[in-house]
Amino acid sequence: MFDLMRTAVIRKEHFNAAHRLYNPAWSDQENDRVFGKCNNPNYHGHNYELLVKLTGKTDPETGYVFDMKRLSDIIKDEVIEPFDHRNLNEDVPEFQSLNPTAENIAMIIWRKLRDRIDPDYDLKITLYETERNIVEYPAE
Ligand code: NI
Repeated sequence: MFDLMRTAVIRKEHFNAAHRLYNPAWSDQENDRVFGKCNNPNYHGHNYELLVKLTGKTDPETGYVFDMKRLSDIIKDEVIEPFDHRNLNEDVPEFQSLNPTAENIAMIIWRKLRDRIDPDYDLKITLYETERNIVEYPAE
């Protein structure tokens, strides 16, 4: 039984970034109606908290599910370096034609990390856009 058990490890990271929520297919009025202040043309910022959860088997030799230093380095490469202190709409290619909502940011982070982590691990992203607005990707 024991060797079938899986364990989750979670790395917490942080980045600051600016964005504007906007759908170019809509009129300014429609954008204002749907996105309100988040549609401010001069952008606004958030302090994003990111939880990256890996679920897998504990390696009997190391006692680790995953080397957390390696996980931290992968998150730094794929998320912190490209996103931190950036304007997501302007500076990050993935959001040139994708609205940088917390939902879409979490999905992009998942895709970027999924490519770097062995498929034997389950990967879940939790992104806090504010202390009260939180997105999980993928959902259960
Ligand atoms: Ni916002």
